[in-house]
Formats: sequence, structure tokens, C-alpha cells
Amino acid sequence: MGKIILIASGKGGTGKTTVAANLGVALSKLNRLSVAVDMDMGLRNLDISLGIESSIVYDISDVVSGRATIDDALIKHTRYSDLYVLSSPQGNADGAELDTKKLGGVFESLKERFDYCIIDSPAGLDKGFLYSLSVCDEVILVTTPDVSALRDADRVASVIEETGEKPVRLIINKIYPSLIEDGIMMNIDDCVDMIGISPIGLIPQDTELFKAALSGLAAVDNPDSKAGKAIYNIARRITGEEVPVMDFKTEKKTFFSKLKELFAN
Ligand SMILES: Nc1ncnc2c1ncn2[C@@H]1O[C@H](COP(=O)(O)OP(=O)(O)O)[C@@H](O)[C@H]1O
Ligand SMILES: [Mg+2]
Repeated sequence: MGKIILIASGKGGTGKTTVAANLGVALSKLNRLSVAVDMDMGLRNLDISLGIESSIVYDISDVVSGRATIDDALIKHTRYSDLYVLSSPQGNADGAELDTKKLGGVFESLKERFDYCIIDSPAGLDKGFLYSLSVCDEVILVTTPDVSALRDADRVASVIEETGEKPVRLIINKIYPSLIEDGIMMNIDDCVDMIGISPIGLIPQDTELFKAALSGLAAVDNPDSKAGKAIYNIARRITGEEVPVMDFKTEKKTFFSKLKELFAN
């Protein structure tokens, strides 16, 4: 049986879709059969991030309602042989009312077929997030290192805790190490303390992601992308590989040199 990992956030624009798309690609590059599922109903983006938008015929609501089979709706990525995509409906969020029992069945069969199912979800506590929460095995919360994103992430973390025992890990994205060093950006220790969830990865702000959007090349496939490298390492941790994460508590004195080191290779 595979694992369903929900990528969620409190605030919009923290990088959920970027992380979900690149984790899907990275896991497939690590030879894990993976499916990236878009549950951001009505505002789908994952298809564009993965460059498959013109291949969509059916989406997950078609599968749940019986208009299409899973095989009809699964799109095999042409560049990555172990990556599939299941899209969400576009532009009609009201029409995306899903039968939760049937949705559960769709995810059960994805679990049987794939090693990893990565769900991209809407920001906050929208329907698509709540549906996804009910079917996932674990959650990765993506936040940026600012108070409002952290507070919203904390609110989502409380809802996850209230609704069941799902393990939650944190990604802090769009980090500027030099701004932290200058005391302008919140430091990572404080971010982690504010939410009380241990991080599975830190991702720097990276202009290479704009190139990724233009060229269609995934960040994890771009050797110049530090964000891509960070997300690739997160994928390795997901598969159980020991990839060193900074020990913020004990290495506080060398925190900035460690952070720079981490993003330098
Ligand atoms: N580490 C990063 N460095 C620079 N830009 C980023 C980074 N992560 C995400 N972005 C950009 O931020 C914007 C929002 O990201 P997106 O993944 O769509 O967020 P969400 O799905 O949470 O709304 C996109 O333009 C994306 O390219
Ligand atoms: Mg998104």
C-alpha cells in the first residue's frame, strides 16, 4: 500500500503547488511510482506546474461521479515515466461537491496502485482541503517565515489535530538566509517554536523558479535551483533516506553558516 501525503497551508501563495509538483517529480526520479493529485477545486494549478495542462480530458470529479474511470483520468507524464497526474475540476468550484465515500474509494485505489500520492490542496480550510485531510495518511504544512503565514498554519495545524491522528511535518519556504542574518526576517528556530511542528525541510527563495515556470523544466531537474535541491532532499527524506537536517537547537551558534552551507550545495 502506498502513502497519501497532503500538502497544505494556512495562507495562499506559500508554495504548496510548487512543492507538490516538484515532490511528484523528485519521487518519480527516485524510482517511486507517484501520482500528483490536484484537490484545489476550481483553481487548479498543478497541471501547469507539471506542464500537462493540454492533456486533461477528465478530472477527479468525473471519476467520483462515475463519468470516467481512474484510468481515463490519470495522465501519464511524458518526461517522467513513474509520474502520473490526476487533475481537479477547473472553474466550477460549486460543481465540485463530491461524494466523500466515493472519493475515499478513489484514493483507496490510488494507494493500491502507487507508492506515493501527493495531494495539492487549496489554502486554508476549504472543502478541497477537508476532503483531502479525510483521505490522507500524513500532512506537510507549507509556510513562509512571516507571522501571518505562521499564524494561519498554526490554525490549520489545530484543525488537523482536532480531526484525527495524522502526522504533520513542516516546510518553511521562501527563506532569505541573508535577511535572517540581518535580523529582518524571522529566524527558523522562532518559526518552528511558533508552530511546534518539526520541519521536514527548508526551502530558500529562488529566482530559478521563475525560469522553471517559463521553460517547463521542474526545479528539481534544474541543477542551478537551490529550491529544487531542497525539495529533492525532502523527497529523499520522505522515502526514509537519512538526509541531514540542521539541528537548530544545538547548532545555534553556527546557525547562519549551516544555513548558507545547506543552500550552497
Ligand atoms: N522558494 C521559492 N522561491 C521563489 N519563488 C517561489 C518559491 N516557492 C514558490 N514560489 C513562487 O511563489 C508563487 C506561489 O507559489 P505556489 O506554489 O503557486 O503557492 P500556493 O500553491 O501555495 O498558492 C509562484 O509564483 C511560485 O513560483
Ligand atoms: Mg496552489
